[in-house]
Amino acid sequence: QQKVGLVGWRGMVGSVLMQRMQEEQDFAHIEPTFFTTSQKGLPAPDIAGAQAGVLEDAFDIAALSQQDIIITCQGGDYTKAVYAKLRDAGWKGYWIDAASALRMADDAIIVLDPVNGNEIKHGIEQGVRTFVGGNCTVSLMLMALGGLFEKDLVEWASPMTYQAASGSGAKHMRELISQMGAIHSAVKDKVDDPATAILDIDQQVAEFIRSDDYPSDQFGVPLAGSLIPYIDTQLPSGQSREEWKAQAEANKILGVTESPVPIDGICVRVGAMRCHSQAITLKLKQDLSVEEIETLLAEHNEWVKVIPNDRNATMEELTPAKVTGTLSIPVGRIRKLTMGPEYISAFTVGDQLLWGAAEPLRRMLRIILG
Ligand code: HSE
Repeated sequence: QQKVGLVGWRGMVGSVLMQRMQEEQDFAHIEPTFFTTSQKGLPAPDIAGAQAGVLEDAFDIAALSQQDIIITCQGGDYTKAVYAKLRDAGWKGYWIDAASALRMADDAIIVLDPVNGNEIKHGIEQGVRTFVGGNCTVSLMLMALGGLFEKDLVEWASPMTYQAASGSGAKHMRELISQMGAIHSAVKDKVDDPATAILDIDQQVAEFIRSDDYPSDQFGVPLAGSLIPYIDTQLPSGQSREEWKAQAEANKILGVTESPVPIDGICVRVGAMRCHSQAITLKLKQDLSVEEIETLLAEHNEWVKVIPNDRNATMEELTPAKVTGTLSIPVGRIRKLTMGPEYISAFTVGDQLLWGAAEPLRRMLRIILG
């Protein structure tokens, strides 16, 4: 059995990865070692079923070098601190990483096997040993629209995102809930009294959201009762880094960096918990019927689910509330836009921690295990 080192398994993405690995019985196929940045020598968790010994030091290059495969959800700083040292020490194992640090490196493949499974297999044969999970919105968009990209039918795409709090981290999810609760607490008496004028309630909510009593240490500004139209750092292009990733990463995954498909839009944080949604405008290279488009999308992979462009079906099926905690990738609102027959709209939702983060990594592990 291959030795697999697990780093960052306690964090949010790592915990989802551990859950999925248990559900799919991945631990039956590996000899796991759990690494820690702070608790070396303590007993390893019982996650793997059998006794997995004690925690090893995640900065111990010699201990890491014993592994055939390392999966890390520890974050970009850890990758930057350890990866080069490990390779410099001659380690030739497989590095599977959730962080973005190595994503655009020439010798790394961004993994999303329902979309680029052939590239992954070819890469392994060619000696690629570094596999990195994609940005969540990019992976979720390609899972939803893979059928059109695969057939090279997309001239350009403009995803406008509605990204969940989880993309910022666990503390941000907690803060979003605190914000919701604090707003309610601030006006509860008035809300419960049907005689109160709604504009009075609204005024009080607005004042509270702008006040120092509203909890916003993590996001810096209000999210609940508001939204934040900027994600990640600012780039000279005018894009946020999150927006820049869409075209850069999607074209790398699709293997078309030589003649990239323009993909650009605005990324927005909204008060959803862990499902990212995206409203996407596409210009297709051909005038396909909606039925043809839906068929291509539905046939691409086993997780995408075409939702008919019908009010009830959309409200029931195409929401974060419905999708959260599942591997389902619904895509709907597919229709011709008034700009012309090649212009279509689509709306998709996906769990940011599953297909957006953990699932491509665990599937990469299984691909290596064969
Ligand atoms: N950058 C993403 C977000 C999450 O902030 O929602 C990680 O891919």
